[in-house]
Amino acid sequence: MINSQPEQTLLREPCRLLITGGAGFIGSNFVHHWCNNYKRDRVVVLDALTYAGNRQNLASLENRENFRFVKGNICDRAFIDSLLQEENIDTVAHFAAESHVDRSILGPDAFIQTNVVGTFTLLESFRHYWMSRGQPQSDRFLHVSTDEVYGSLAPDDPPFTETTPYAPNSPYSASKAGSDHLARAYYHTYGLPTIITNCSNNYGSYHFPEKLIPLMCINILLGKPLPVYGDGQNVRDWLYVGDHCRALDVVINQGKPGETYNIGGNNEVKNLDLVELLCQLMDELAPHLPVQPSTKLITFVKDRPGHDRRYAIDASKIKRELGWTPQETLLSGLRQTIAWYLNNRDWWQPLLSEEYQAYYQKVYGIEAIK
Ligand code: NAD
Ligand code: DAU
Repeated sequence: MINSQPEQTLLREPCRLLITGGAGFIGSNFVHHWCNNYKRDRVVVLDALTYAGNRQNLASLENRENFRFVKGNICDRAFIDSLLQEENIDTVAHFAAESHVDRSILGPDAFIQTNVVGTFTLLESFRHYWMSRGQPQSDRFLHVSTDEVYGSLAPDDPPFTETTPYAPNSPYSASKAGSDHLARAYYHTYGLPTIITNCSNNYGSYHFPEKLIPLMCINILLGKPLPVYGDGQNVRDWLYVGDHCRALDVVINQGKPGETYNIGGNNEVKNLDLVELLCQLMDELAPHLPVQPSTKLITFVKDRPGHDRRYAIDASKIKRELGWTPQETLLSGLRQTIAWYLNNRDWWQPLLSEEYQAYYQKVYGIEAIK
C-alpha cells in the first residue's frame, strides 16, 4: 500500500511515538509507513474511534511488538497526561481531527471541540510533560494541517506558500487555522519543538466513503449517481497519501522546530475532469459495472455553501530544505487507489451504515446509497 523506503536514520536512537487519529485515513497510512520503516520505534496510536476511525485499518499491526492501540479522546487531559508518562513519549504526530468540510457545515460544534480544544489540550499536556523532563530539544510535536487554512485562490493566483496569509472559509478550515495558531504559539512562547505541515487533498487506501474520490469509486461500483457540486470547475491539488506519509517522515526526522512546511502534489485538477477520469479508469479496471460508461452517472447537484474555488500548493520549501518530492503521478496514484477499493469491498461496504445514509440524505437530498 505504502511505498517502503530504507530506514534513513539508522544512527538515531529509537523514538517513542504517539500518533493521534491513527485509525483514520491519513493517520492509519502513516502508522503503517512508520511501522514498516522504523521497526525499533515504539508506536502508540491514540484514537477516539469516531465514525471516521476504524480499528480494522490497523488490524495487521495489532499483534506486533512495539505497537499499542489506545482508545481515547484528545480532549481528555488527565488521560493524555498519564499516557505520555506511561509510554515515555518523545514524539507526537497529531492527526486527530474532524476532517470533513460538509459535516462542519451541518454541525460545527465537534470541529471546535476536537480541532481547537483537543489540539490545545494535547499541546498543554505535552508542554507540561516536556518541561518535567528538562525540555529535551530532540522532542517533536508534529501538527498535521491543511492547505484550506489559506482560503481560496483565483484562477491566476500563485499557489499558497508558507507565508500566504490565513483566510479560512469553512468551520472546518477555521478550526484547523485556530489549531495551527496554537501550535505556532507554543513554539514561540514556550519553545516547545512544534512543526506544522499544511497539505493539499490526499487520496488512497482507507479513505472514508464521504470524500470525493472514494465516494465516486463506490457509487460507480454501485451504479448510483455521481454528485458533482455546482459547475464542477472547482480545483483541488491532489496528493497520493503515501507521498504525504513520506513527507511527514522527513519533517519529523529532519524538519526544524518552529517551521511550517507546505506539502502538495503539483496536481491541480478541476473536479469534473477528475470525476471523468475516475469514470474512465473504473470502466477500464472494474469488471461488470452496473452502468457503463460510468460518465452516464454524473449528476450536478446544489453547490457546497461557501465552496472554495481553487487550492494549489507551492511545495518548493520542503523540496529545497528536506529533499522531498512526490513519487506518484495522479494516474499511478489513482490506479493504485481504484485497485484498493476493488479489492477491499469488505472494508467499505459496512461503512455505508444507517448513520452514513442519514448523513448522505442531509447533504445531497437524493436517494442514499446502499
Ligand atoms: P479522518 O477523518 O479520516 O481521521 C481522523 C481520525 O481522528 C479518526 O480516526 C477519528 O476517530 C480521530 N478522532 C477524531 N476526533 C478525535 C478525538 N477527539 N480524539 C481522538 N481521536 C479523534 O481524517 P484524515 O483525512 O485522515 O485527516 C487527518 C489529519 O490530516 C487531519 O488533521 C486533517 O485536518 C489533515 N489533513 C487531511 C487532508 C485530507 O485530504 N484528508 C489533507 C490535509 C490535511
Ligand atoms: O485540501 C485539503 C482538504 O481536503 C483536507 O483538509 C480535508 O480534510 C479533506 O476532506 C479535503 O477537503 P475537500 O473539501 O477539498 O475534500 P472533498 O473530498 O470533500 O471534496 C473535494 C472537492 O470535490 C471539493 O471541491 C468538493 C467537491 N465534491 C465533494 C464531494 C464529497 C463534489 O463535487 N461532490 C461531492 O460529493
